[in-house]
Amino acid sequence: MKPATRVAWDGLARHAAAGSGARLRDLFAADAQRFARLSTSWNHWLLDYSKQRVTPETMDLLQALWQVADLPGWIARMRAGEAINHTEGRAALHIALRHPADKGPIMHAGQDVMPAVHHELAKMQRFVAGIHGRHWRGATGEPISDIVNIGIGGSDLGPRMATQALMAFRHPELRVHYVANLDAADLATTLATLQPRNTLFVIASKTFTTQETMQNAASARAWLVGALGEAAVARHFVAVSTNLGEVARFGIDPANAFAFWDWVGGRYSLWSAIGLPLALAVGYDNFEKLLAGAHAMDEHFFSAPPQENLPGLLALLEIWNSNFLGADNRVLLPYSQSLGLLPRYLQQLEMESNGKPVDRQGEPLDCTTAPILWGEAGTNGQHAFYQLIHQGGHLIPCEFIACREADFALPGHHEKLLANCFAQGEALMRGKTPDETFTELRAGGMAADEAARLAPFRSFPGNQPSTTLLLPRLDPFNLGALLALYEHKVFAESVIWDINPFDQWGVEYGKQLASRLLSIIEGKASAAGLDSSTAGLIAACKP
Ligand code: F6P
Repeated sequence: MKPATRVAWDGLARHAAAGSGARLRDLFAADAQRFARLSTSWNHWLLDYSKQRVTPETMDLLQALWQVADLPGWIARMRAGEAINHTEGRAALHIALRHPADKGPIMHAGQDVMPAVHHELAKMQRFVAGIHGRHWRGATGEPISDIVNIGIGGSDLGPRMATQALMAFRHPELRVHYVANLDAADLATTLATLQPRNTLFVIASKTFTTQETMQNAASARAWLVGALGEAAVARHFVAVSTNLGEVARFGIDPANAFAFWDWVGGRYSLWSAIGLPLALAVGYDNFEKLLAGAHAMDEHFFSAPPQENLPGLLALLEIWNSNFLGADNRVLLPYSQSLGLLPRYLQQLEMESNGKPVDRQGEPLDCTTAPILWGEAGTNGQHAFYQLIHQGGHLIPCEFIACREADFALPGHHEKLLANCFAQGEALMRGKTPDETFTELRAGGMAADEAARLAPFRSFPGNQPSTTLLLPRLDPFNLGALLALYEHKVFAESVIWDINPFDQWGVEYGKQLASRLLSIIEGKASAAGLDSSTAGLIAACKP
């Protein structure tokens, strides 16, 4: 940690120790203006963090981190295309992917990247028009009815999550499927529902070497060639990659390959042609609105002061909860069926980015970084794991997301959804003491001895911190802004922790060992030197 950050950090630690006895219900009782003081708005969004275990003084101390950690300087470095991903020698310019054509250049290695970005977007737009307009035909002359995106991690989670999030905007006749898992069950069960003659595969892989994607792509190719012959590949396979050489070697026509660049991290790539299946699912106009929303959030992040900066506030609150209050996790609770995959998407964005052991200088960190992120759409989670959040004794900061307007309207649903969302935040904050429970049970007519017996089971400690983010509605613009919000939250945290959020060396070791074990399982290499557990497991799989 940088020395200046350390001074602010120590001040926060003293503040946390001094306020450790404070309870949220008392803080609300003591200040009628608490919501007004500890909430902010942007573009018809509302961020209410008054149910976090903070006071205005806490926020002042946290906001001081913004300057001492030099957030403005790091934002400038990112925008200037500097190699802020220093362990891979790469820039992190996903902001360029949603930068409007008329808003000036974004430079990388002495070149403006915007012409190339807009060239690929125009190519995507033409391709989507071709599929939707039924001009693009399969090998037998039939139009395409089903798209299968084959990719994993950042080449899957973003478009998959956004396709579900924008269900209300879906093209009525085109079905978009996602296959990621190496387990053949994923591809086989998808193919079982499809006809080769009107299926188009999008092979999405930044590197075009990822084992899962290459295996699924090879199996999909065999399925298609088996039915329609080798020549059909050109009409039924397109690719999205930075590695166009490998795309050509796979047999995909370079004219059907969509490029992106090594300055786009996999988990930040939804805005590039990796978003092609999404654009096919919801139309290119809606994809453009998604980009516009993300750009609007970029501008907000770059210019808003820390006390109004939504990504900044979320970052500071997470640092407070995890580094000063000791929370090792955060639960994301979107009260939106359409946002049901958001927790999975954010698990990659947040944990692959910020789950790091050393600082930018390679020195071991003396604080924890990304907490464990988990979650589920409300109200489903209420009937599964909320019991533990309410009474399990763990500190679990909760993040509720809700929309004022429903994306699917059926009478009676949305009001109940909102009531449940807000009730959970209230219950978690307030809790219910054993005395309150006893009084309530007695008021309901229960005998005193029975009420006394049950009160401990039916009381709630409360004081569980939560944030509620209220969006006007879930549409492409607001979804784009929401995802960019989390990208910048992750970046702001990384700057304060002084870590590189853009590499992911932690996933490499397992890949390396899997390739060795594959040789052993296939009988091409000896198991000598393996630990007895791994050798025993391999032996147990032999027929
Ligand atoms: O899981 C590691 C990872 O490198 C992710 O960062 C990436 O999103 C994913 O694999 C897929 O990589 P690719 O797009 O190169 O197939």
